[in-house]
Amino acid sequence: MRVKKAVFPVAGMGTRFLPATKANPKEMLPIVDKPLIQYAAEEAIAAGIDELIFVTSSSKRAIEDHFDKNYEMETELEKRGKRELLNILRGIVPEGVSCVYVRQPEALGLGHAVLCAKPVVGNDPFAVILADDLINGGDNPCLSQMVEVFNDRQASVLGVERVDPSETNKYGIVKTTESKEQLNKVSGIVEKPHPEVAPSNLAVVGRYILTPEIFGLLERTERGAGGEIQLTDAIAMLLKDQAVYAYEFEGKRFDCGSKLGYLQATVEYALEHEELGEEFRAYLKSFICDVGLEG
Ligand code: G1P
Repeated sequence: MRVKKAVFPVAGMGTRFLPATKANPKEMLPIVDKPLIQYAAEEAIAAGIDELIFVTSSSKRAIEDHFDKNYEMETELEKRGKRELLNILRGIVPEGVSCVYVRQPEALGLGHAVLCAKPVVGNDPFAVILADDLINGGDNPCLSQMVEVFNDRQASVLGVERVDPSETNKYGIVKTTESKEQLNKVSGIVEKPHPEVAPSNLAVVGRYILTPEIFGLLERTERGAGGEIQLTDAIAMLLKDQAVYAYEFEGKRFDCGSKLGYLQATVEYALEHEELGEEFRAYLKSFICDVGLEG
């Protein structure tokens, strides 16, 4: 089994970024010059995925437009001889990669969003990427690392990271067999537990590779935390039937669903930016000096 499909749940309202997200999807917020959803798509494509499945809702049309051809703009850039910009546009969806859009008719939670992709995913293993968890994995992006694990184990893999124990109530938290390895078998998973009852501080952070058996379980999943159909609850059932692994990926995650995480990502990606990095570093240095933040 190979992972060739990725599901991007993008139907959420993004209320934490209002008013910026009133008329613009939160997944279209840029980090420097690329929208979050494009980072997610690039991570999937780098991992060998060739079918991008977006689970959308009304008011998310900008995402479809972003991954579609813009003839008018391309013609104009061609006329002006702007080859580089043209290549940037044409490279958003490389040849051989296709995009599919499915609507989530009601906001019933992440589990429900993933279930909406069932008719397109069918009986294949697939990845789920939450675009607001932006992960900088350098030369080896997070999903590529996870696909390697999947190819080896042929079982579901969850991307996990240790979080501050006080923050377990923001995440799906896994319990693993005792070892301190990078890859561990999951023995339990619970959605947003309070720190006093959390089984660990290993949090799932927006990267999943799942076997298609998850769909049958999602169909039977009742509303859980927050009154929503939780992907975490279906995974809890899945691991009773088959192995599920937690993989502590290499790379740095930014919680771009929060304003602070979004700003941190902006600064760090700007520092790494090919065209902008040097100048931005110089600016930051002098700014830190000016406002007396050094040391
Ligand atoms: C969702 C999942 C949660 C996971 C988190 C990662 O929660 O339900 O299990 O840990 O994404 O970002 P949300 O952030 O949508 O509330």
